[in-house]
Amino acid sequence: MDKIVSLCKRRGFVFQASEIYGGLNSCWDYGPLGVELKRNVKDAWWRAMVRDRDDVVGLDSAILQHPKVWEASGHVANFSDPLVDCTKCKKRFRADHIGVPYQNAAGVWTHPETAKPLEESEARAMLAAKRCPECGGELTPPRRFNLMFQTFLGPVVEDAARVYLRPETAQGIFTNFVNVLNSSRKKPPFGIAQIGKSFRNEITPGNFVFRTREFEQGEMEFFCPPADADKWFAYWREERFGWYGKHGVRPSRLRLRDHAKDELAHYSTACSDVEYRYPFGWGELEGIANRTDFDLKQHATFSKKDLSYFDEETKSRYVPYVIEPAAGIDRAAMTFLVDAYEETVVKDEERVVLHFHPKIAPITVAVFPLVKKEGMPEKAKEIEQELRRSFATAIEANQSIGKRYARQDEVGTPYCVTVDGQSMQDDTVTLRDRDTLAQDRVKVSDLSSAIASKIREWKRVDDGGGAA
Ligand code: GAP
Repeated sequence: MDKIVSLCKRRGFVFQASEIYGGLNSCWDYGPLGVELKRNVKDAWWRAMVRDRDDVVGLDSAILQHPKVWEASGHVANFSDPLVDCTKCKKRFRADHIGVPYQNAAGVWTHPETAKPLEESEARAMLAAKRCPECGGELTPPRRFNLMFQTFLGPVVEDAARVYLRPETAQGIFTNFVNVLNSSRKKPPFGIAQIGKSFRNEITPGNFVFRTREFEQGEMEFFCPPADADKWFAYWREERFGWYGKHGVRPSRLRLRDHAKDELAHYSTACSDVEYRYPFGWGELEGIANRTDFDLKQHATFSKKDLSYFDEETKSRYVPYVIEPAAGIDRAAMTFLVDAYEETVVKDEERVVLHFHPKIAPITVAVFPLVKKEGMPEKAKEIEQELRRSFATAIEANQSIGKRYARQDEVGTPYCVTVDGQSMQDDTVTLRDRDTLAQDRVKVSDLSSAIASKIREWKRVDDGGGAA
């Protein structure tokens, strides 16, 4: 991970936020290449989830919503972690992470490992026997700490103006269910997708952009008749698992993990996580959940609005069930980076290559004039301008060709085009492939279609997982 974090900084993928002031813990800024990578991740997600389908439409709801939204969704009451403080070293821990019993959102004492209910006397005895894992100091009893960020709407800092930064994008979809139903001519089964920022005051952020307090999600709520919910859950579970492999992630480092009943969030009856084997172990990339009719019913109760659907065919009214694939965009971007990373030695030189899928790579084609004379820079520019119509391009004229290839390999550019002496004679160039290192002589007039066909045929070499 350290090597990847340092590559990200050196080449302009990700910088520490507010670095000139010493940085802000767990906040990150995306640099020129990182922002292209993340944009490609979002485009690929949007294409698969919205554009390429007839049964999903898009939405972009506000980050700030009416406070009642978060009461109805259960986030005000339930979206909290149990924390304990060390009275000596002042460090703060999540109770269940250090084996301390805690009261769940309903106030029931809970075993930190099994999540089973405990008698209060038993819990208190366990708590008294537990000392700080860092310094051995005495711990405070656990208190619940809500993960939503609060702010105030308008100039008055008072309770009536208190609002929250959304902790998930999903609720903006539920509150717009009827608006979309009435305006888009969609009827269940259909989905509403959105990409946007979410905020959680995480207690233990870390592992680079894996867990941060401000992050982007790609979420889709798929509304269906209750009787079809299991079928759609199975469908989206497979579909979303397949998406990562299709975009270049090695299948050997991916798995689907079904949640046990006691792991489920308060709103869901089934959940599967797409997990990736990171250098720090298996971690969740995306969750696919059956949220039932919980959210629509809660919002109907709190808003006193009818959020049911009348089916003209069966002449019956029902509240749809919701299947939700919820992905982390930053996590996906980081996963593409980690999975793409490879160190090899070619002719005694260490070579770092990012084997991105060409649709995910920040730059698709780099164009090099072999030398800065004999009309080659002008010809290279002309070619780049043409390729720019279809691909993300870059042009580089400095340093040796070998060094330029190495620089592009290191940021994952799949194709490099070199304009040389022969190009000036016969209008051909070399087209180099990052993964196979093959160099083909291609006519300039065929270049775009040659690259397009390489992109279509691109395949990730799966080495069986290797050392993550
Ligand atoms: N609407 C359901 C929901 O938000 P979640 O499992 O809490 O479910 C979905 O979040 C995805 O969002 C996660 O799988 C992860 O990829 C991403 N995510 C959640 N918390 C995050 C954090 N603190 N930092 C980065 N990504 C996060």
